[in-house]
Amino acid sequence: MHSRSPMLLTWLMTQHGLMGTYVPLAIKPENLAPALRGLAPLGFSGCNLTIPHKERALAIVDEVDPVARRIGAISCVVVRSDGSLWGTNNDAYGFVQNILQHRPGWRADAGPVVIVGAGGGARAVAWSLAERGARDIRVVNRTLARAKALAQEFDTPMKAIAWDDRHRALEGAAMLVNTTSQGMVGQTPLDLDLDALPTSALVTDIVYAPLETPLLAAARRRGNPTVDGLGMLLHQARPAWKAWFGIEPEVTPELRALVEATF
Ligand SMILES: NC(=O)c1ccc[n+]([C@@H]2O[C@H](COP(=O)([O-])OP(=O)(O)OC[C@H]3O[C@@H](n4cnc5c(N)ncnc54)[C@H](OP(=O)(O)O)[C@@H]3O)[C@@H](O)[C@H]2O)c1
Repeated sequence: MHSRSPMLLTWLMTQHGLMGTYVPLAIKPENLAPALRGLAPLGFSGCNLTIPHKERALAIVDEVDPVARRIGAISCVVVRSDGSLWGTNNDAYGFVQNILQHRPGWRADAGPVVIVGAGGGARAVAWSLAERGARDIRVVNRTLARAKALAQEFDTPMKAIAWDDRHRALEGAAMLVNTTSQGMVGQTPLDLDLDALPTSALVTDIVYAPLETPLLAAARRRGNPTVDGLGMLLHQARPAWKAWFGIEPEVTPELRALVEATF
């Protein structure tokens, strides 16, 4: 219910003259398979998946594209003309495009990167950073086993760090990414002391409701450059639309302002 996608994507439909709508559907985890199987008979072109469905959907769709398979999470499902389901992941694309839009000179290999969280969003972020050359990735997660599992996923060296050591993990980092749901509307703020983080480090949050999470506000106050998570949502919609309707919308200032106005 926090999602801005229904408003954003319904607006895009109007802009592109499509007769359609984008609806939020609250699906319990145990109902994900029948819900996805219901898309074709109900006439849906596809759907996006959000917390906590991204990993579970891998075992449900008929075909998974290589990027989603590698990431281990699906963010977008396409209903093909024969009614079968194709799963892909646009979060990695959205994450990188958002950073580059705000920081055109950004490089993933500028120094150590700390990722907080090890869920579906974290997997996409870790994969995209590894793909773009990050060579020292520290994964901090409340459940250490999940951080360890993620750290072994890709060919890039990644270190799993216990939750109790999260504050010290920020030493010397060039980038900090929150991928947990902490800081989101209705959740407690991320419990992370930024003292050890260099003030030059780029801080970004994939949570976008609120637009400025407590983490981003704290980082901004101490002088760190920050990028909010809204652009990730906007940019991931582009390949999703291409897959559903053959149209690739632009992420314009007007589009961002439209969503921003809802916060
Ligand atoms: N901007 C965008 O386009 C975009 C894209 C994707 C996701 N997101 C947002 O990112 C967030 C995470 O989504 P997801 O799909 O990755 O979810 P997920 O797979 O369920 O993962 C949730 C993560 O948050 C951690 N967590 C939950 N409660 C916590 C707590 N009390 N203390 C510390 N860590 C906690 C979990 O740790 P454990 O492993 O210990 O449970 C896990 O690492 C959501 O807010 C989602 O809306 C935004």
